[in-house]
Amino acid sequence: MSEVLRISFPEPPVREPEPIVRLQGFSRHFGETRVLDDLDLAIAPGEFVALLGRSGSGKTTLLRTLAGLDEANGGAVIPASRATVFQDARLLPWKRVWQNVVLGVAGEDRRQRAEEALREVGLEHRPDAWPLTLSGGEAQRASLARALIRKPELLLLDEPFAALDALTRIRMHALVLSLWRRHKPAVLLVTHDVEEAMALADRILVLDAGRIAAEEPVAAPRGQRASVVRPLRARLLGHLGLQTDGGVYADLIGRDT
Ligand SMILES: Nc1ncnc2c1ncn2[C@@H]1O[C@H](COP(=O)(O)OP(=O)(O)O)[C@@H](O)[C@H]1O
Ligand SMILES: [Mg+2]
Repeated sequence: MSEVLRISFPEPPVREPEPIVRLQGFSRHFGETRVLDDLDLAIAPGEFVALLGRSGSGKTTLLRTLAGLDEANGGAVIPASRATVFQDARLLPWKRVWQNVVLGVAGEDRRQRAEEALREVGLEHRPDAWPLTLSGGEAQRASLARALIRKPELLLLDEPFAALDALTRIRMHALVLSLWRRHKPAVLLVTHDVEEAMALADRILVLDAGRIAAEEPVAAPRGQRASVVRPLRARLLGHLGLQTDGGVYADLIGRDT
């Protein structure tokens, strides 16, 4: 047997990209109430993260800090290029849709840029509409267009679909995914909807008692999640304090005890 000369090369180091968002030991108190307490969070460029948590767990408080609306303490890393979509579209009712989209954006081509963004969100037929004449879904499309036009590196979504009916919500999920695939911002989607989180995110965080209490990477690619969804749902609901014994919601709630 001939001797084989084995030459071993050192493994190239796996380079994790520098996080685009980093909070370390982040706390926020309102009077005596500790809402966020020694919280750590890192988000990679282009990563789609969902943040689940019960009502009042501090999701909006965290998001406001990342949006720069509240001061961040400590050594926080937050990109300057960011945009936020809230649960209510927050359009100025006295400005037309296109003017809302380019609010605060300068340049001769504002109208054209607004129209392009409106086309991307499927609202190209309503540039001159008044916000109060839009449906809930349309208003959120306009709000997404206003965020997109800023070409954010970080897109913050605070329960943007919570007030929409179930069918509109499904369309908005598909829209957000297609926009994310095209523009690749990092996304932090705050939601209390476990299904929404599992359908959209690369990684799901659960906020509880002021901290990230659990973290669940979604192992399967989008479109091939059927096999991971059921156990993942049970774990997530468990993190949220709802024991399902691995069962499905309809059976859990419908159990005749
Ligand atoms: N500006 C504020 N002043 C006092 N308390 C606040 C303020 N903002 C939020 N809180 C309190 O902090 C807690 C977390 O609120 P929030 O971040 O809105 O929760 P979530 O978005 O998860 O429902 C709640 O108890 C809320 O009443
Ligand atoms: Mg909230």
